[in-house]
Amino acid sequence: MSEAPVADPFLVLGIETSCDETAAAVVANGTSVVSSVVSSQVDLHARYGGVVPEIASRAHVELLTPAVAQALVESGIDGSELSAVAATVGPGLAGALLVGISAAKAYALAWGLPFIGVNHMEAHLYACFLEEPDLEPPLVVLLVSGGHTLLVHMEDHGSYRLMGTTVDDAVGEAFDKVARVMGLGYPGGPVIDRVALTGDPTAVRFPRAMPDGYDFSLSGLKTAVIRYVREHPETPVADVAASFQAAVVDVLVAKAKRAAAEVGATGICLGGGVAANSLLRERILDLCTADGLRCFLPSRSMCTDNAAMVAAAAWWRYRADGPTPLDVGAQPNLRLA
Ligand code: KG4
Ligand code: ZN
Repeated sequence: MSEAPVADPFLVLGIETSCDETAAAVVANGTSVVSSVVSSQVDLHARYGGVVPEIASRAHVELLTPAVAQALVESGIDGSELSAVAATVGPGLAGALLVGISAAKAYALAWGLPFIGVNHMEAHLYACFLEEPDLEPPLVVLLVSGGHTLLVHMEDHGSYRLMGTTVDDAVGEAFDKVARVMGLGYPGGPVIDRVALTGDPTAVRFPRAMPDGYDFSLSGLKTAVIRYVREHPETPVADVAASFQAAVVDVLVAKAKRAAAEVGATGICLGGGVAANSLLRERILDLCTADGLRCFLPSRSMCTDNAAMVAAAAWWRYRADGPTPLDVGAQPNLRLA
């Protein structure tokens, strides 16, 4: 990435509306969070057992202006004192993305500021740099969220090679579906994480699918857990949760370990909502310690969707590419690499 000179401090208002969190944040120089507001819509979607796109879009319309106002008040910065306005342009739900993109463009025009479009998965990655600015590529990055499972070789800033992805369900999606069948509610990841703490991870030996290369396949595991729960209602929920979680984490850790060795990475970073998982964090840390790698685990609030990570990624993008043209639209299937 070539770097263009930018103002110091470079204050970005970041906006995130790609799924079910409405978020706004002000970040200085891509590394210092001045304010960060997340208005969760989880309660609105919980009764449906998953995110309902139309409800998400409508809720973003209602929640975004107050979230931006609060982020500005908490930062003590007036809109006109900002350096740029950024928003997630994809991947995500089309209608939800459009709310954030349209608002960000409007703020940018009103305040005479550049607009910066951000890739949501790159933002999850930059949550690591936000908290650990001296991290240095080459890195192996495992991005695991409700919609994505990406194993990425980050060769340099802005330079990514996709090593593996899921051939069916995303990791977070598997957590959510298994939790629903077990009657644990939505979102499933945090509940399974909590319930598994008291369970026996060796109680049930669920399959660990290892497709060739660095790809993942989770639907077989998901189906095995669902079938097991129906056939063995007597098994304690905590044991099933712990056994499922252990199977998922075994696969993620095995592939991340091999990928780091193959590319000669100096470290491994985790990102995305599932990166908040206690067992995954513990096992990746153990792997890095054993293999002499740096390990970076963003704080839990930085793993799940937020706007500080969007503003941080925007700072890096702006230095490389300058402003994003205002005719950019929502890109629901935007790729990282
Ligand atoms: O990144 P994120 O907030 O939203 C998307 O971009 O998808 O990720 C949400 C996903 C959900 O599937 C949720 O169940 C999962 O992350 N998740 C977890 C944990 N916390 C959130 N999965 C496992 N363990 C957790 N502690
Ligand atoms: Zn996300």
